[in-house]
Amino acid sequence: MGFIDELCQLQEDESLDLCQVKEIVSRATFCPEDLRESAPQQPEPDHYSRTSIYSCDAFEVLVIRWAPEAQTTPHNHGCDKSCGVAAIIEGGITNRVFCMQENGVKELECEQFEAGSLMAFEEGIIHQMENSKANQETLSVHVYFPKLSDVTHF
Ligand SMILES: [Fe+2]
Repeated sequence: MGFIDELCQLQEDESLDLCQVKEIVSRATFCPEDLRESAPQQPEPDHYSRTSIYSCDAFEVLVIRWAPEAQTTPHNHGCDKSCGVAAIIEGGITNRVFCMQENGVKELECEQFEAGSLMAFEEGIIHQMENSKANQETLSVHVYFPKLSDVTHF
């Protein structure tokens, strides 16, 4: 896919940053049928499936298929504090952002993202994502840089 080539090129020329990755992903055209072919694993009811379609030291690209009302736990983006961009291809995502408190995490904000929108995850974010559609699979493409490692769930 063209946007992966562009990310590789950018990584060779300089390092990836959130603005540039967002810009590259915003220009990409995604075909839902092709993405589902690349990520054939259907999610179990109430769950999501993640398929890595590209991975190198600098970044990783995942296709995530969300069953209706599937949600993640609140989590961070690993020991390397990866940044990320997610494109919502079909369906919709509710994203909740949290902060750490002495006795756990506290919700700071909640935002809705519909198909066609882009999400950006800054370094150090703690968040939870949920398929906001009760009767529809949501399909999203995620770029994480550096690639995720040792994600913590809260
Ligand atoms: Fe995340």
